[in-house]
Amino acid sequence: MNLTLKIWRQKNANSKGEIVEYPISDISPDISFLEMLDVLNSQLIPAGEEPVAFDHDCREGICGSCSLYINGEAHGPDRRVTTCQLHMRKFKDGDTIFIEPFRANAFPVVKDLVVDRSAFDRIQQAGGFISINTSGNTQDGNAIPISKHAADEAMDAATCIGCGACVASCKNSSAMLFVGAKVSQYALLPQGQVEAADRVQNMVAQMDLEGFGNCTNTGACEVECPKGISLENIARMNRELVKASLKG
Ligand code: SF4
Ligand code: FES
Repeated sequence: MNLTLKIWRQKNANSKGEIVEYPISDISPDISFLEMLDVLNSQLIPAGEEPVAFDHDCREGICGSCSLYINGEAHGPDRRVTTCQLHMRKFKDGDTIFIEPFRANAFPVVKDLVVDRSAFDRIQQAGGFISINTSGNTQDGNAIPISKHAADEAMDAATCIGCGACVASCKNSSAMLFVGAKVSQYALLPQGQVEAADRVQNMVAQMDLEGFGNCTNTGACEVECPKGISLENIARMNRELVKASLKG
């Protein structure tokens, strides 16, 4: 395949970025989108040009690092896949492909296609955990009965990989699908009940502090989420927040 890439290049967080055009040829339809960028970089480096910076780690759809906005869609045109699992066969020979970083005030650009998503880490640190007594008298988690339905729903919520596509897809740059998933995975389980009120209040407060927008029920986040996280998690988070505030 022969393609024209239009890529956002930005030296650092303070410089002004711009779209730069790169023609690329002989791309196999069977390679992944990130491998296509590897091919481009392997041509830029010997030519003395700065390679395109982009985030990646596992390349298996599990770490949430890869975060590209491709032709106006987070993780590109395929559904339920991350950028690292997107294949070039989703494009046609002769296509022009726009590649940009995820855009949101809370995700500032670090360089080229790399954004700083540490706001998500701070939200997690505010409450996305369970405190366990490790004195030796801890009850075995497997001895606590959990209904199949609750276990399945908690597992679905826990599949959120923290990629940030929900934020990038949302016209309000809302992080509510991410926070809803993180709150839900504990709210659905008995182990999550002890700290439930503090968890939801602290995580939502941190989310607001980081500058994410509010949810207006557009649903773009659910459509673009590579893990199919459901909007029901946002509704559950809102119910948990009301419950917590009534408790005082
Ligand atoms: S909810 Fe989906 S889109 Fe948002 S961070 Fe989690 S996996 Fe990514
Ligand atoms: S590189 Fe890990 S999910 Fe894409």
